[in-house]
Amino acid sequence: MKRLPGHGLRRGQAVTVTVDGEPTAAYLGESVAVALMAHGDLSTRATKGGENRGLFCGMGVCFDCVAVVDGVPGTRACVTWVRDGMVIERQDGPGARRAAPGG
Ligand code: FES
Repeated sequence: MKRLPGHGLRRGQAVTVTVDGEPTAAYLGESVAVALMAHGDLSTRATKGGENRGLFCGMGVCFDCVAVVDGVPGTRACVTWVRDGMVIERQDGPGARRAAPGG
């Protein structure tokens, strides 16, 4: 583990996950929600009406943060921990992967 300077926090082992098709650095002990945020977008999914949603309760209760993880839609990003090689996709509606920009 690596200590973050000045904060007394330790970060887990570096791993690589794929977020919306792009290899992205993540750290063991982090949630899928953190990996999505680190990828540069706070949303984890869009509603059927196209409104973005993301973390709300942060503890597995509200299901606002669902994403597609390793092909499984409806996975709560806030209570699912990253692992090396995990494939994470933002979710569109009840289960489809969000279309790539321009696609
Ligand atoms: S933010 Fe509420 S279940 Fe994940």
